[in-house]
Amino acid sequence: MRRLSVLAAVLTVLLTLTVARTANGEPMNESKSSGGLLWSTAKEETDLMRPSNDDDSSAADHEGLDGGFSSLDGMLQWAIGHSDPAKLKETAQDMQRLSSDDLKKRQIEIKELVDSMKMPSDAQFMQIAIDDLNNSSLSFEDRHRALQELLILVEPIDNANDLSKLGGLSPLIRELNHSDSDVRRVAAWVLGKASQNHAIIQKQILELGALPTLMKMTRSASVEEAIKALYAVSALIRNNLGGQELFFSEAGDVMLQDIIGNSSIDIRLLKKAIFLVADLAECKLEIVERAELPFFTNLSLLKSIVDLTSTTDLDLQEKVLFALKNLLRLSTTEALIFKDFCDLDGALERMRLQLQDLIADEFWSDFAVDVENLRREVELIFHKKLGELKQVPK
Ligand SMILES: *[C@@H]1O[C@H](CO)[C@@H](O)[C@H](O)[C@H]1NC(C)=O
Ligand SMILES: *[C@@H]1O[C@H](CO)[C@@H](O)[C@H](O)[C@H]1NC(C)=O
Ligand SMILES: *[C@@H]1O[C@H](CO)[C@@H](O)[C@H](O)[C@H]1NC(C)=O
Ligand SMILES: *[C@@H]1O[C@H](CO)[C@@H](O)[C@H](O)[C@H]1NC(C)=O
Ligand SMILES: *[C@@H]1O[C@H](CO)[C@@H](O)[C@H](O)[C@H]1NC(C)=O
Ligand SMILES: *[C@@H]1O[C@H](CO)[C@@H](O)[C@H](O)[C@H]1NC(C)=O
Repeated sequence: MRRLSVLAAVLTVLLTLTVARTANGEPMNESKSSGGLLWSTAKEETDLMRPSNDDDSSAADHEGLDGGFSSLDGMLQWAIGHSDPAKLKETAQDMQRLSSDDLKKRQIEIKELVDSMKMPSDAQFMQIAIDDLNNSSLSFEDRHRALQELLILVEPIDNANDLSKLGGLSPLIRELNHSDSDVRRVAAWVLGKASQNHAIIQKQILELGALPTLMKMTRSASVEEAIKALYAVSALIRNNLGGQELFFSEAGDVMLQDIIGNSSIDIRLLKKAIFLVADLAECKLEIVERAELPFFTNLSLLKSIVDLTSTTDLDLQEKVLFALKNLLRLSTTEALIFKDFCDLDGALERMRLQLQDLIADEFWSDFAVDVENLRREVELIFHKKLGELKQVPK
Protein backbone atom coordinates (compact mmCIF):
# COMPACT_ATOMS: atom_id res chain seq x y z
CA MET A 1 0.00 0.00 0.00
CA ARG A 2 2.96 2.27 0.44
CA ARG A 3 3.49 2.21 -3.30
CA LEU A 4 0.05 3.61 -3.84
CA SER A 5 0.05 6.55 -1.49
CA VAL A 6 -0.60 9.12 -4.24
CA LEU A 7 -3.69 7.28 -5.22
CA ALA A 8 -4.71 7.08 -1.60
CA ALA A 9 -4.45 10.85 -1.33
CA VAL A 10 -6.68 11.39 -4.34
CA LEU A 11 -9.20 8.97 -3.03
CA THR A 12 -9.12 10.62 0.36
CA VAL A 13 -10.18 13.89 -1.27
CA LEU A 14 -12.84 12.04 -3.16
CA LEU A 15 -14.04 10.55 0.05
CA THR A 16 -14.10 13.84 1.93
CA LEU A 17 -16.14 15.30 -0.87
CA THR A 18 -18.71 12.65 -0.23
CA VAL A 19 -18.57 13.28 3.48
CA ALA A 20 -18.88 17.03 2.94
CA ARG A 21 -21.84 16.60 0.69
CA THR A 22 -23.79 14.72 3.28
CA ALA A 23 -22.69 17.12 5.97
CA ASN A 24 -24.01 19.98 3.85
CA GLY A 25 -27.45 18.49 4.06
CA GLU A 26 -27.55 17.73 0.36
CA PRO A 27 -29.19 14.44 -0.34
CA MET A 28 -26.78 11.70 -1.25
CA ASN A 29 -27.86 10.76 -4.72
CA GLU A 30 -25.13 8.19 -5.12
CA SER A 31 -26.88 5.86 -2.73
CA LYS A 32 -24.62 3.01 -3.67
CA SER A 33 -21.55 4.65 -2.26
CA SER A 34 -23.11 5.34 1.10
CA GLY A 35 -24.51 1.83 1.21
CA GLY A 36 -21.16 0.47 0.19
CA LEU A 37 -19.45 1.89 3.22
CA LEU A 38 -21.58 -0.24 5.46
CA TRP A 39 -21.36 -3.29 3.39
CA SER A 40 -18.38 -4.99 4.84
CA THR A 41 -19.84 -5.09 8.31
CA ALA A 42 -23.54 -5.37 7.69
CA LYS A 43 -23.81 -7.89 4.92
CA GLU A 44 -22.62 -11.13 6.31
CA GLU A 45 -25.24 -11.45 9.04
CA THR A 46 -28.24 -11.21 6.75
CA ASP A 47 -26.62 -13.53 4.26
CA LEU A 48 -26.27 -16.52 6.42
CA MET A 49 -29.32 -15.93 8.53
CA ARG A 50 -31.87 -15.92 5.75
CA PRO A 51 -31.70 -19.15 3.88
CA SER A 52 -34.59 -18.36 1.59
CA ASN A 53 -33.40 -14.92 0.52
CA ASP A 54 -29.84 -15.80 -0.28
CA ASP A 55 -30.11 -15.46 -4.00
CA ASP A 56 -31.78 -12.09 -3.90
CA SER A 57 -29.43 -10.59 -1.41
CA SER A 58 -26.25 -11.75 -3.07
CA ALA A 59 -27.45 -10.49 -6.42
CA ALA A 60 -28.10 -7.09 -4.93
CA ASP A 61 -24.83 -7.04 -3.05
CA HIS A 62 -22.74 -7.65 -6.08
CA GLU A 63 -24.50 -5.08 -8.17
CA GLY A 64 -22.09 -2.62 -9.67
CA LEU A 65 -19.06 -4.22 -8.12
CA ASP A 66 -17.81 -6.37 -10.97
CA GLY A 67 -15.59 -3.53 -12.08
CA GLY A 68 -13.92 -3.74 -8.71
CA PHE A 69 -12.02 -0.65 -7.83
CA SER A 70 -13.18 1.11 -10.93
CA SER A 71 -16.37 1.51 -8.94
CA LEU A 72 -16.71 4.35 -6.49
CA ASP A 73 -17.54 1.91 -3.71
CA GLY A 74 -14.30 0.07 -3.95
CA MET A 75 -12.23 3.22 -4.11
CA LEU A 76 -13.93 4.77 -1.14
CA GLN A 77 -13.53 1.59 0.84
CA TRP A 78 -9.91 1.52 0.01
CA ALA A 79 -9.37 5.19 0.72
CA ILE A 80 -10.93 4.83 4.16
CA GLY A 81 -8.50 2.12 5.00
CA HIS A 82 -5.59 4.38 4.12
CA SER A 83 -6.56 7.73 5.50
CA ASP A 84 -5.82 9.56 8.67
CA PRO A 85 -9.18 10.15 10.43
CA ALA A 86 -8.18 13.53 11.88
CA LYS A 87 -7.07 14.84 8.53
CA LEU A 88 -10.16 13.48 6.90
CA LYS A 89 -12.37 15.40 9.28
CA GLU A 90 -10.40 18.60 8.77
CA THR A 91 -10.64 18.33 4.99
CA ALA A 92 -14.32 17.61 5.25
CA GLN A 93 -14.79 20.79 7.29
CA ASP A 94 -12.92 22.78 4.64
CA MET A 95 -15.14 21.29 2.00
CA GLN A 96 -18.25 22.33 3.87
CA ARG A 97 -17.25 25.96 3.47
CA LEU A 98 -17.31 25.63 -0.32
CA SER A 99 -20.45 26.66 -2.15
CA SER A 100 -22.28 23.96 -3.99
CA ASP A 101 -21.02 25.31 -7.34
CA ASP A 102 -17.46 25.07 -6.08
CA LEU A 103 -18.15 21.58 -4.87
CA LYS A 104 -19.45 20.52 -8.24
CA LYS A 105 -16.38 22.01 -9.91
CA ARG A 106 -14.12 20.13 -7.49
CA GLN A 107 -15.98 16.98 -8.15
CA ILE A 108 -15.51 17.29 -11.90
CA GLU A 109 -11.79 18.02 -11.43
CA ILE A 110 -11.37 14.97 -9.28
CA LYS A 111 -13.33 12.81 -11.63
CA GLU A 112 -11.09 13.89 -14.50
CA LEU A 113 -8.03 13.23 -12.40
CA VAL A 114 -9.23 9.75 -11.46
CA ASP A 115 -10.20 9.02 -15.07
CA SER A 116 -6.78 10.04 -16.28
CA MET A 117 -5.03 7.67 -13.90
CA LYS A 118 -4.80 4.05 -14.68
CA MET A 119 -6.62 2.39 -11.83
CA PRO A 120 -5.05 -0.78 -10.54
CA SER A 121 -7.32 -3.79 -10.79
CA ASP A 122 -8.73 -5.61 -7.81
CA ALA A 123 -6.31 -8.41 -8.54
CA GLN A 124 -3.38 -6.00 -8.24
CA PHE A 125 -4.68 -4.63 -4.96
CA MET A 126 -5.19 -8.15 -3.79
CA GLN A 127 -1.67 -9.15 -4.74
CA ILE A 128 -0.30 -6.30 -2.63
CA ALA A 129 -2.45 -7.28 0.33
CA ILE A 130 -1.46 -10.94 0.06
CA ASP A 131 2.23 -10.04 -0.22
CA ASP A 132 1.93 -7.88 2.87
CA LEU A 133 0.09 -10.56 4.80
CA ASN A 134 2.70 -13.11 3.81
CA ASN A 135 5.63 -10.87 4.71
CA SER A 136 6.67 -11.69 8.25
CA SER A 137 9.08 -8.75 8.40
CA LEU A 138 6.21 -6.26 8.21
CA SER A 139 4.69 -4.86 11.38
CA PHE A 140 1.61 -6.31 13.05
CA GLU A 141 -0.38 -3.21 11.99
CA ASP A 142 0.57 -3.52 8.33
CA ARG A 143 -0.40 -7.14 8.21
CA HIS A 144 -3.62 -6.53 10.08
CA ARG A 145 -4.48 -3.84 7.56
CA ALA A 146 -3.72 -6.27 4.74
CA LEU A 147 -6.31 -8.59 6.27
CA GLN A 148 -8.89 -5.80 6.43
CA GLU A 149 -8.21 -5.00 2.78
CA LEU A 150 -8.70 -8.62 1.79
CA LEU A 151 -12.01 -8.60 3.63
CA ILE A 152 -13.22 -5.85 1.29
CA LEU A 153 -11.54 -7.16 -1.83
CA VAL A 154 -12.90 -10.67 -1.51
CA GLU A 155 -16.51 -9.52 -1.62
CA PRO A 156 -17.29 -9.84 -5.35
CA ILE A 157 -17.54 -13.52 -6.17
CA ASP A 158 -14.97 -13.42 -8.97
CA ASN A 159 -12.42 -11.98 -6.62
CA ALA A 160 -12.61 -15.10 -4.48
CA ASN A 161 -11.15 -16.95 -7.44
CA ASP A 162 -8.33 -14.44 -7.63
CA LEU A 163 -7.65 -14.81 -3.93
CA SER A 164 -7.01 -18.47 -4.50
CA LYS A 165 -5.05 -18.07 -7.76
CA LEU A 166 -2.78 -15.50 -6.18
CA GLY A 167 -1.97 -17.90 -3.37
CA GLY A 168 -3.88 -16.00 -0.69
CA LEU A 169 -5.54 -18.97 0.98
CA SER A 170 -2.48 -20.44 2.70
CA PRO A 171 -1.30 -17.18 4.31
CA LEU A 172 -4.88 -16.60 5.49
CA ILE A 173 -5.17 -20.06 7.00
CA ARG A 174 -1.84 -19.58 8.70
CA GLU A 175 -3.27 -16.47 10.39
CA LEU A 176 -5.97 -18.65 11.99
CA ASN A 177 -3.14 -19.77 14.23
CA HIS A 178 -2.06 -16.25 15.17
CA SER A 179 -1.66 -15.42 18.84
CA ASP A 180 -3.89 -12.35 18.49
CA SER A 181 -7.61 -13.14 18.65
CA ASP A 182 -8.59 -10.27 16.40
CA VAL A 183 -6.24 -11.43 13.63
CA ARG A 184 -7.78 -14.88 13.87
CA ARG A 185 -11.25 -13.34 13.75
CA VAL A 186 -10.63 -11.34 10.56
CA ALA A 187 -8.82 -14.22 8.86
CA ALA A 188 -11.81 -16.49 9.56
CA TRP A 189 -14.14 -13.82 8.26
CA VAL A 190 -12.23 -13.48 4.98
CA LEU A 191 -12.16 -17.26 4.51
CA GLY A 192 -15.90 -17.45 5.22
CA LYS A 193 -16.67 -14.72 2.71
CA ALA A 194 -14.46 -16.29 0.07
CA SER A 195 -16.10 -19.69 0.39
CA GLN A 196 -19.68 -18.49 0.57
CA ASN A 197 -21.62 -19.97 -2.38
CA HIS A 198 -18.33 -20.94 -3.98
CA ALA A 199 -17.80 -24.69 -4.29
CA ILE A 200 -14.26 -24.50 -5.67
CA ILE A 201 -12.98 -22.26 -2.90
CA GLN A 202 -14.76 -24.40 -0.30
CA LYS A 203 -12.91 -27.43 -1.61
CA GLN A 204 -9.53 -25.70 -1.60
CA ILE A 205 -9.92 -24.38 1.92
CA LEU A 206 -11.08 -27.79 3.13
CA GLU A 207 -8.08 -29.44 1.49
CA LEU A 208 -5.77 -27.00 3.20
CA GLY A 209 -7.15 -28.33 6.48
CA ALA A 210 -8.77 -25.18 7.86
CA LEU A 211 -12.03 -26.74 9.07
CA PRO A 212 -10.81 -28.33 12.34
CA THR A 213 -9.00 -25.10 13.26
CA LEU A 214 -12.13 -23.04 12.58
CA MET A 215 -14.21 -25.48 14.61
CA LYS A 216 -11.82 -25.11 17.52
CA MET A 217 -12.07 -21.34 17.22
CA THR A 218 -15.83 -21.48 17.83
CA ARG A 219 -14.87 -22.25 21.43
CA SER A 220 -12.73 -19.13 21.74
CA ALA A 221 -13.00 -17.03 24.88
CA SER A 222 -13.52 -14.09 22.52
CA VAL A 223 -17.13 -14.25 21.44
CA GLU A 224 -16.46 -12.11 18.36
CA GLU A 225 -13.86 -14.59 17.19
CA ALA A 226 -16.20 -17.52 17.90
CA ILE A 227 -18.98 -15.88 15.87
CA LYS A 228 -16.81 -15.33 12.79
CA ALA A 229 -15.37 -18.82 13.10
CA LEU A 230 -18.83 -20.35 13.14
CA TYR A 231 -19.79 -18.15 10.20
CA ALA A 232 -16.78 -19.53 8.30
CA VAL A 233 -17.59 -23.12 9.28
CA SER A 234 -21.15 -22.68 7.96
CA ALA A 235 -19.99 -21.10 4.72
CA LEU A 236 -17.39 -23.79 4.22
CA ILE A 237 -19.69 -26.80 4.55
CA ARG A 238 -22.88 -25.37 3.13
CA ASN A 239 -24.17 -27.67 0.35
CA ASN A 240 -20.80 -29.39 0.47
CA LEU A 241 -21.03 -33.09 1.24
CA GLY A 242 -17.30 -33.62 1.72
CA GLY A 243 -17.16 -30.70 4.10
CA GLN A 244 -20.16 -31.98 6.06
CA GLU A 245 -18.65 -35.43 6.36
CA LEU A 246 -15.48 -33.93 7.76
CA PHE A 247 -17.53 -31.69 10.05
CA PHE A 248 -19.30 -34.66 11.60
CA SER A 249 -16.15 -36.76 11.79
CA GLU A 250 -14.59 -33.89 13.74
CA ALA A 251 -17.50 -34.14 16.21
CA GLY A 252 -19.39 -31.21 14.73
CA ASP A 253 -22.55 -32.24 16.53
CA VAL A 254 -20.77 -32.12 19.88
CA MET A 255 -19.44 -28.67 18.95
CA LEU A 256 -22.99 -27.53 18.18
CA GLN A 257 -24.27 -29.15 21.35
CA ASP A 258 -21.69 -27.26 23.42
CA ILE A 259 -23.00 -24.00 22.00
CA ILE A 260 -26.72 -24.79 21.93
CA GLY A 261 -26.75 -26.46 25.35
CA ASN A 262 -24.92 -23.59 27.05
CA SER A 263 -27.42 -21.30 28.71
CA SER A 264 -24.92 -18.45 29.10
CA ILE A 265 -23.80 -18.40 25.47
CA ASP A 266 -24.01 -15.23 23.37
CA ILE A 267 -27.33 -15.16 21.50
CA ARG A 268 -25.70 -14.27 18.17
CA LEU A 269 -23.55 -17.37 18.36
CA LEU A 270 -26.57 -19.40 19.41
CA LYS A 271 -28.59 -18.22 16.41
CA LYS A 272 -25.77 -19.07 14.04
CA ALA A 273 -25.54 -22.57 15.53
CA ILE A 274 -29.29 -23.16 15.19
CA PHE A 275 -29.18 -21.85 11.67
CA LEU A 276 -26.40 -24.30 10.85
CA VAL A 277 -28.44 -27.22 12.23
CA ALA A 278 -31.42 -26.19 10.10
CA ASP A 279 -29.24 -25.74 7.05
CA LEU A 280 -27.50 -29.10 7.43
CA ALA A 281 -30.82 -30.88 7.88
CA GLU A 282 -32.26 -29.11 4.85
CA CYS A 283 -29.27 -30.09 2.73
CA LYS A 284 -29.69 -33.65 3.88
CA LEU A 285 -33.36 -33.58 2.87
CA GLU A 286 -32.45 -32.38 -0.59
CA ILE A 287 -29.86 -35.07 -1.22
CA VAL A 288 -31.78 -37.96 0.31
CA GLU A 289 -30.52 -40.33 -2.38
CA ARG A 290 -26.90 -39.73 -1.54
CA ALA A 291 -24.66 -41.51 0.91
CA GLU A 292 -25.65 -41.43 4.57
CA LEU A 293 -23.85 -38.91 6.70
CA PRO A 294 -23.38 -39.69 10.37
CA PHE A 295 -26.08 -37.23 11.17
CA PHE A 296 -26.95 -35.65 14.52
CA THR A 297 -26.39 -38.70 16.61
CA ASN A 298 -26.07 -36.64 19.74
CA LEU A 299 -29.38 -36.92 21.60
CA SER A 300 -28.53 -34.13 24.02
CA LEU A 301 -28.26 -31.87 20.98
CA LEU A 302 -31.84 -32.63 19.93
CA LYS A 303 -33.04 -32.11 23.49
CA SER A 304 -31.21 -28.77 23.78
CA ILE A 305 -32.83 -27.57 20.57
CA VAL A 306 -36.29 -28.53 21.84
CA ASP A 307 -35.56 -26.82 25.16
CA LEU A 308 -34.74 -23.61 23.32
CA THR A 309 -38.40 -23.29 22.33
CA SER A 310 -38.80 -21.63 25.72
CA THR A 311 -36.70 -18.64 24.65
CA THR A 312 -38.40 -15.26 24.82
CA ASP A 313 -36.59 -14.06 21.69
CA LEU A 314 -39.09 -14.40 18.83
CA ASP A 315 -36.41 -14.42 16.17
CA LEU A 316 -34.64 -17.28 17.91
CA GLN A 317 -37.99 -19.08 18.35
CA GLU A 318 -38.54 -18.88 14.63
CA LYS A 319 -35.09 -20.27 13.88
CA VAL A 320 -35.55 -23.08 16.41
CA LEU A 321 -38.88 -24.05 14.84
CA PHE A 322 -37.34 -23.98 11.40
CA ALA A 323 -34.56 -26.32 12.59
CA LEU A 324 -37.08 -28.66 14.27
CA LYS A 325 -39.20 -28.75 11.14
CA ASN A 326 -36.23 -29.89 9.04
CA LEU A 327 -35.02 -32.35 11.67
CA LEU A 328 -38.46 -33.95 12.00
CA ARG A 329 -38.70 -34.41 8.25
CA LEU A 330 -35.47 -36.42 8.21
CA SER A 331 -36.11 -40.14 8.03
CA THR A 332 -33.09 -40.74 10.28
CA THR A 333 -34.52 -38.91 13.29
CA GLU A 334 -36.86 -40.89 15.52
CA ALA A 335 -40.29 -39.61 16.46
CA LEU A 336 -40.18 -41.35 19.85
CA ILE A 337 -36.96 -39.57 20.79
CA PHE A 338 -38.68 -36.24 20.20
CA LYS A 339 -41.71 -37.45 22.15
CA ASP A 340 -40.22 -39.23 25.15
CA PHE A 341 -36.67 -37.95 25.46
CA CYS A 342 -37.26 -34.34 24.39
CA ASP A 343 -40.93 -33.88 25.41
CA LEU A 344 -41.64 -32.01 22.20
CA ASP A 345 -45.39 -32.07 22.87
CA GLY A 346 -44.98 -30.21 26.15
CA ALA A 347 -42.53 -27.76 24.61
CA LEU A 348 -44.85 -26.94 21.70
CA GLU A 349 -47.80 -26.46 24.06
CA ARG A 350 -45.84 -24.08 26.31
CA MET A 351 -44.75 -22.20 23.23
CA ARG A 352 -48.35 -21.92 22.05
CA LEU A 353 -49.39 -20.29 25.32
CA GLN A 354 -46.44 -17.93 25.24
CA LEU A 355 -47.21 -16.93 21.65
CA GLN A 356 -50.88 -16.30 22.51
CA ASP A 357 -49.78 -13.51 24.85
CA LEU A 358 -47.55 -12.01 22.18
CA ILE A 359 -50.26 -12.19 19.54
CA ALA A 360 -52.43 -10.07 21.83
CA ASP A 361 -49.61 -7.52 22.03
CA GLU A 362 -50.08 -4.99 19.25
CA PHE A 363 -46.35 -4.47 18.70
CA TRP A 364 -45.46 -8.13 18.34
CA SER A 365 -48.67 -9.43 16.86
CA ASP A 366 -47.69 -9.88 13.18
CA PHE A 367 -44.39 -11.57 13.92
CA ALA A 368 -45.97 -13.75 16.61
CA VAL A 369 -48.69 -14.90 14.19
CA ASP A 370 -46.02 -15.98 11.71
CA VAL A 371 -44.17 -17.90 14.40
CA GLU A 372 -47.41 -19.50 15.60
CA ASN A 373 -48.14 -20.69 12.04
CA LEU A 374 -44.70 -22.24 11.86
CA ARG A 375 -45.24 -23.82 15.29
CA ARG A 376 -48.46 -25.43 14.08
CA GLU A 377 -46.69 -26.73 11.03
CA VAL A 378 -44.03 -28.32 13.22
CA GLU A 379 -46.75 -29.85 15.39
CA LEU A 380 -48.44 -31.36 12.32
CA ILE A 381 -45.23 -32.82 10.96
CA PHE A 382 -44.43 -34.24 14.39
CA HIS A 383 -47.83 -35.94 14.78
CA LYS A 384 -47.67 -37.27 11.26
CA LYS A 385 -44.27 -38.78 12.05
CA LEU A 386 -45.70 -40.34 15.23
CA GLY A 387 -48.69 -41.64 13.25
CA GLU A 388 -46.49 -43.34 10.69
CA LEU A 389 -44.78 -45.11 13.53
CA LYS A 390 -48.06 -46.69 14.70
CA GLN A 391 -48.76 -48.08 11.24
CA VAL A 392 -45.55 -50.08 11.20
CA PRO A 393 -46.55 -53.71 12.02
CA LYS A 394 -44.92 -55.04 15.15
C1 LIG B 1 -30.52 11.84 -8.60
O1 LIG B 1 -30.35 10.94 -9.68
C2 LIG B 1 -31.48 10.83 -10.52
C3 LIG B 1 -31.19 9.80 -11.61
O2 LIG B 1 -30.22 8.89 -11.21
C4 LIG B 1 -31.79 12.17 -11.14
O3 LIG B 1 -32.96 12.07 -11.95
C5 LIG B 1 -32.01 13.20 -10.04
O4 LIG B 1 -32.20 14.47 -10.61
C6 LIG B 1 -30.83 13.24 -9.11
N1 LIG B 1 -31.11 14.11 -7.99
C7 LIG B 1 -30.24 15.05 -7.58
C8 LIG B 1 -30.66 15.85 -6.40
O5 LIG B 1 -29.15 15.22 -8.12
C1 LIG C 1 8.80 -7.55 3.15
O1 LIG C 1 8.71 -6.21 3.61
C2 LIG C 1 9.93 -5.56 3.68
C3 LIG C 1 9.71 -4.20 4.37
O2 LIG C 1 8.74 -3.46 3.67
C4 LIG C 1 10.51 -5.42 2.28
O3 LIG C 1 11.77 -4.79 2.34
C5 LIG C 1 10.66 -6.82 1.68
O4 LIG C 1 11.09 -6.71 0.34
C6 LIG C 1 9.35 -7.56 1.74
N1 LIG C 1 9.57 -8.95 1.35
C7 LIG C 1 8.91 -9.51 0.35
C8 LIG C 1 9.22 -10.93 0.09
O5 LIG C 1 8.09 -8.90 -0.32
C1 LIG D 1 4.93 -16.46 1.18
O1 LIG D 1 6.27 -16.41 1.60
C2 LIG D 1 6.96 -17.62 1.45
C3 LIG D 1 8.39 -17.41 1.95
O2 LIG D 1 8.40 -16.64 3.10
C4 LIG D 1 6.97 -18.06 0.00
O3 LIG D 1 7.58 -19.32 -0.12
C5 LIG D 1 5.54 -18.14 -0.52
O4 LIG D 1 5.54 -18.43 -1.90
C6 LIG D 1 4.83 -16.83 -0.29
N1 LIG D 1 3.45 -16.94 -0.69
C7 LIG D 1 2.85 -16.01 -1.40
C8 LIG D 1 1.42 -16.27 -1.73
O5 LIG D 1 3.40 -15.00 -1.77
C1 LIG E 1 0.16 -23.16 15.22
O1 LIG E 1 0.85 -22.68 16.37
C2 LIG E 1 1.42 -23.67 17.18
C3 LIG E 1 2.11 -23.00 18.36
O2 LIG E 1 1.36 -21.93 18.83
C4 LIG E 1 2.41 -24.50 16.36
O3 LIG E 1 2.91 -25.53 17.15
C5 LIG E 1 1.73 -25.05 15.12
O4 LIG E 1 2.66 -25.71 14.30
C6 LIG E 1 1.08 -23.96 14.32
N1 LIG E 1 0.33 -24.52 13.20
C7 LIG E 1 0.33 -24.00 11.99
C8 LIG E 1 -0.51 -24.68 10.96
O5 LIG E 1 0.99 -23.02 11.69
C1 LIG F 1 -23.24 -35.26 23.11
O1 LIG F 1 -22.81 -33.98 23.51
C2 LIG F 1 -22.40 -33.90 24.88
C3 LIG F 1 -22.11 -32.47 25.20
O2 LIG F 1 -21.21 -31.91 24.30
C4 LIG F 1 -21.22 -34.80 25.10
O3 LIG F 1 -20.80 -34.76 26.44
C5 LIG F 1 -21.59 -36.23 24.72
O4 LIG F 1 -20.47 -37.06 24.80
C6 LIG F 1 -22.15 -36.28 23.30
N1 LIG F 1 -22.70 -37.60 23.05
C7 LIG F 1 -22.36 -38.33 21.99
C8 LIG F 1 -23.02 -39.63 21.83
O5 LIG F 1 -21.53 -37.93 21.16
C1 LIG G 1 -20.74 -21.41 28.29
O1 LIG G 1 -20.51 -20.14 27.68
C2 LIG G 1 -19.80 -19.24 28.50
C3 LIG G 1 -19.78 -17.91 27.79
O2 LIG G 1 -19.27 -18.03 26.49
C4 LIG G 1 -18.41 -19.80 28.78
O3 LIG G 1 -17.69 -18.90 29.60
C5 LIG G 1 -18.53 -21.15 29.45
O4 LIG G 1 -17.26 -21.74 29.60
C6 LIG G 1 -19.42 -22.08 28.63
N1 LIG G 1 -19.69 -23.28 29.40
C7 LIG G 1 -19.37 -24.50 28.94
C8 LIG G 1 -19.72 -25.63 29.82
O5 LIG G 1 -18.82 -24.67 27.85
